Amino acid sequence: MRHFLHLTDYSNHELWELLHLAKELKIKFHNKEDFKPFKDRSLAMIFAKPSARTRVSFETGFEWMGGHALFLGPKDIGIGKREAIKDISRLFSRYNDMIMARLFDHAHILELAEYSGIPVINGLTDYNHPCQILADIMTVWERRGNLDNLKVTYMGDGNNIVHSWLQLACRLPMHFVCCNPSGFDPDDKTVQMVNDSKISTYESSNDPVSAVIGADVIYTDVWASMGQKEETEERTKIFADYQVNMELLEKSGKETFFMHCLPAERGREVTDEVMESKNSIVFDEAENRMHAQNAIMVYLHEN
Ligand code: CP
Ligand code: NVA
Repeated sequence: MRHFLHLTDYSNHELWELLHLAKELKIKFHNKEDFKPFKDRSLAMIFAKPSARTRVSFETGFEWMGGHALFLGPKDIGIGKREAIKDISRLFSRYNDMIMARLFDHAHILELAEYSGIPVINGLTDYNHPCQILADIMTVWERRGNLDNLKVTYMGDGNNIVHSWLQLACRLPMHFVCCNPSGFDPDDKTVQMVNDSKISTYESSNDPVSAVIGADVIYTDVWASMGQKEETEERTKIFADYQVNMELLEKSGKETFFMHCLPAERGREVTDEVMESKNSIVFDEAENRMHAQNAIMVYLHEN
């Protein structure tokens, strides 16, 4: 049983297959082509955390492909609380054809997949967010025409978004810089995976200005993720020097794309001006979530 839990579960060749498929499905979607591989099929979407993009893109994408998507919010099943995760896995495997889940603890999505008889897609955990980063790299590829000599500078908290970038870097070559205040580094083991892969180079920085020089992409995310929102005020002070504003963007010395997984907290990790600038490709990224995820679902259905 194949799942989509980490980008490292896929080879370089498979990731490129997914990217080409996503590009093909994007054209079909825009041309309003009739494409119904999921006729009479259902997708159970489990959300233990809030969502706009993930919910709407999965639901719209799956229904466009002929299926029915069921939304199960934080209060609906109480996964791991009202009912054991492994019971939900086996239950949904009897009703549905695929599961997409957004959970807190990464161990919970691993357990969901372990007991599932149907493919499980990771729609974000505290550890990673693979659908997002597949859509992000698709967006960079689309805009640049290639992924050669790519330098990505991430500014901010070493969180789930960073972990998926690092896992991508284990498969696709890039120079990845994570620039964060000390104490907010990404997970050591995941950084080690990049170094061991010998595919990409990883650089850790605490200096925003030198970190962005020559960057093709400057990426940021909220300073307090879901589950940490009570730390927002404290983190706003700690991360103040890491804000992506026009002055910092211009320090790259080249035409740099600004990216953010969204939702953005304008005025904190990014200014309104950067979000609205010609460098910003945040809505392309958001759109590509749907096309990348459609590709993941078709791929899992066929393989
Ligand atoms: N980027 C992202 O996953 O957005 P949502 O939290 O709105 O789904
Ligand atoms: N790091 C953010 C990503 C949201 C898509 C969070 O986990 O809240």
